[in-house]
Amino acid sequence: MNRLLANSVLRRCVMNGGRIMTGEHVVQSPEFAAAAVFSFRPFDRSVMVADQDFGSFQWRRMMCSAAEPAAKAPAVKQADAGAAKKEGEDQVAVSSYWGISRSKITREDGSEWPWNCFMPWDTYESNLSIDLSKHHVPKNFVDKFAFRTVKLMRIPTDIFFKRRYGCRAMMLETVAAVPGMVGGMLLHLRSLRKFQQSGGWIKALLEEAENERMHLMTMVELVKPKWYERLLVLTVQGVFFNAFFVIYVLSPKLAHRIVGYLEEEAVHSYTEFLKDIESGAIENVPAPAIAIDYWRLPKDSTLKDVITVIRADEAHHRDVNHFASDIHFQGKELRDAPAPVGYH
Ligand SMILES: [Fe+2]
Ligand SMILES: [Fe+2]
Repeated sequence: MNRLLANSVLRRCVMNGGRIMTGEHVVQSPEFAAAAVFSFRPFDRSVMVADQDFGSFQWRRMMCSAAEPAAKAPAVKQADAGAAKKEGEDQVAVSSYWGISRSKITREDGSEWPWNCFMPWDTYESNLSIDLSKHHVPKNFVDKFAFRTVKLMRIPTDIFFKRRYGCRAMMLETVAAVPGMVGGMLLHLRSLRKFQQSGGWIKALLEEAENERMHLMTMVELVKPKWYERLLVLTVQGVFFNAFFVIYVLSPKLAHRIVGYLEEEAVHSYTEFLKDIESGAIENVPAPAIAIDYWRLPKDSTLKDVITVIRADEAHHRDVNHFASDIHFQGKELRDAPAPVGYH
């Protein structure tokens, strides 16, 4: 029995059923790609652009980027949970023992939902009407310190990346997804310690972290980091996570203000990115399928459309974090104000 159970768990891990190997990992492992549930078109145009150098990265479309038949506003139809595939038919996951098999999720047209890393109810249409030019004018010492800190952080970034915006965006998204997770985690622990609800702010901040991570998952469909860039990410993450953790514990209003200004810089960077796409300096390649589904974009969307919606996301993050900092400046706690849950 134990052996059977061990085999089941092992197979689950290896074959992508558990959380150990997520959808995005699968697509980076050719040996597992054959077992993936989503379709693969080996001669997709995306593959044809695989060797285009851009900065120190290579632009490419991953195997999972094969366009899905209906990407617009995926409606959910959950099949009967009991109608899981028969043993042996489903080569991806073994779920019979624990009874936690996911219901079959399909789009409106009946095609199977291809992603494990996000669900149709996590997708949204970006609000592009958001004001991109908003800026919080530094008013006091904390504001000025946050503003100067971010401007200082931009100097090495500008020197290192210059106008290689694909590379720059991907590397910065590995950092951008940290603050929401740190803030959400600390609010979660505070909620437990103080026996208080959070006013929805835990969810709002974790949503931001997840949204930033989806930016990264989108960028890795297009850009392949080199080994030393992966090393840089490791180093920066180690430093930034710990530094931001300490700042958030000491002064949440400073932490949120820093993130607010970081997001202002992100809006600026993506605007420059779009300029390079429009000028032809960066090829306007087809949008990755993950982006088409996540932002409910038309099937024929391009990189320009993707960067446009990501920039809108950054503007929303800017507003959320400046708002959070303002709440603290008024001597209140975040839970005293309604959290912007689902604010995209
Ligand atoms: Fe981002
Ligand atoms: Fe952001």
